[in-house]
Amino acid sequence: MNDKIFDLIDAEKRRQSEGLELIPSENYVSAAVLEAMGSVFTNKYSEGYPYFDGIGCGRADDPDFTEWTEDQIAEQILPNYRYYGGQENVDRVERLAIDRACRLFHADHANVQPHSGAQANTAVYYAWLEPGDTVLGMSLPAGGHLTHGAPVTMSAHFYNFVGYGVTAKGDIDYEQLERLAFKYEPRLILVGYSAFMKIPDFKRIAKIRDQLQEQTGEEVLLMADMAHVAGLIAGGVHPNPLDYGFNVMTTTTHKTLRGPRGGIILSNGNVASPLKRPEKTLANIPILIDRAVFPGTQGGPLEHIIAAKAVAFGEALQPEFHDYVAKVIDNAKVLATDLKALGFRLQGGGTDNHLILVDVLSSFGFDGKLYEKALDKVGLTLNANALPTDKGGAFRPSGVRLGTPAITTRGLAEPEMKQIALWMKKVADICADAIKDQPAGASTAALLEPYSAELLTIKKEVQDLALKFPVPGI
Ligand SMILES: Cc1ncc(COP(=O)(O)O)c(C=O)c1O
Repeated sequence: MNDKIFDLIDAEKRRQSEGLELIPSENYVSAAVLEAMGSVFTNKYSEGYPYFDGIGCGRADDPDFTEWTEDQIAEQILPNYRYYGGQENVDRVERLAIDRACRLFHADHANVQPHSGAQANTAVYYAWLEPGDTVLGMSLPAGGHLTHGAPVTMSAHFYNFVGYGVTAKGDIDYEQLERLAFKYEPRLILVGYSAFMKIPDFKRIAKIRDQLQEQTGEEVLLMADMAHVAGLIAGGVHPNPLDYGFNVMTTTTHKTLRGPRGGIILSNGNVASPLKRPEKTLANIPILIDRAVFPGTQGGPLEHIIAAKAVAFGEALQPEFHDYVAKVIDNAKVLATDLKALGFRLQGGGTDNHLILVDVLSSFGFDGKLYEKALDKVGLTLNANALPTDKGGAFRPSGVRLGTPAITTRGLAEPEMKQIALWMKKVADICADAIKDQPAGASTAALLEPYSAELLTIKKEVQDLALKFPVPGI
């Protein structure tokens, strides 16, 4: 294999091994997940579903359920649900992925075909909403995701998004959420985020939805986008919105869940053939979602990725996965505490999950982009991120966002968290010096250039530590 691409794959393996990944939406998959992703299932077209009428998925709360046997699967699959022949292996793979996802998240149904988190959200909107319908979700500046109605996205083009925010203490502003719900009477209430460090009160939000339904006489879909914390939910260290009356939960599979890049949609309700158009009711949401994924918004599923999702879900069902996610949170708390002690101001005062959002501008006087670039130079990778009250815009945000899922997978623990906090402070001191007496508009490269030697010394220390903790699958 002499394609240049393989040199780049080797270079990326080196980058991942020699640095420490602090981007909270990234993780390292196991060798087994990698192998399934790179398998011959990529050769196969399989538009359609491996479904059967009237039978739901295995439920984690059914003590007798383990996993469908080969014979049960063979009996239940209706071959005519696929548009192409040759599905005998693909059908089994996808059924296993569905059953494992349902057990992990206590759901009646799982659609495992979304190519990404954005695709999963798009499909849910398409399943339930009409163009122009109102959705109430967390606003982007408060910590919500682009697909939750950011003006540059398709979601804002087709639907009328109303945003709720967070309080000064960094929690959801539940009073505002309630006020907006009764004022705008949304058809969908959405809880989900990319930069929020508290645990949502799912029960309280479900109650607001129930009261809204009573007042209007209209059904309101309750949706959680748990892309960030799905692994914590699967491992039992974070509440599960589906246990509190939520109808739908979307998630990516590649963040804390530690699977391949992709999305899934979990839902509660009737599970039946998606071939016949059902009535648009909350009870039928699983069927509506299947129709909205295929053929509604996607073509052929990525069965090699679905195979890798099934492997990752199998791993997440093991007791060790609970230990892993518990350590993710422990590590985040240690890191947050040490950063605070070193003068970093944290949004929300700390963290209850795997995420940390640092206000570097108010802590040290420089913006998040300069800090991100300087940390890149020492092998600590994170991302600049806006804060709820940010005036710097998307390209000069005041903060950085970091998290512990990836470094915890490599086995880093409390002593290493303390060391990372110290390195981050050293780099912050360099950035603070770098911006002194500089002309406005000086480039990041020009600002950091005089500190190359100091940054290189830190980089070597980071590298020495990183290489003691091998990346799985490399
Ligand atoms: C809350 C949330 N939803 C959706 C997405 C989109 O996922 P993807 O990048 O797989 O489309 C993300 C990704 O960052 C996210 O954080």
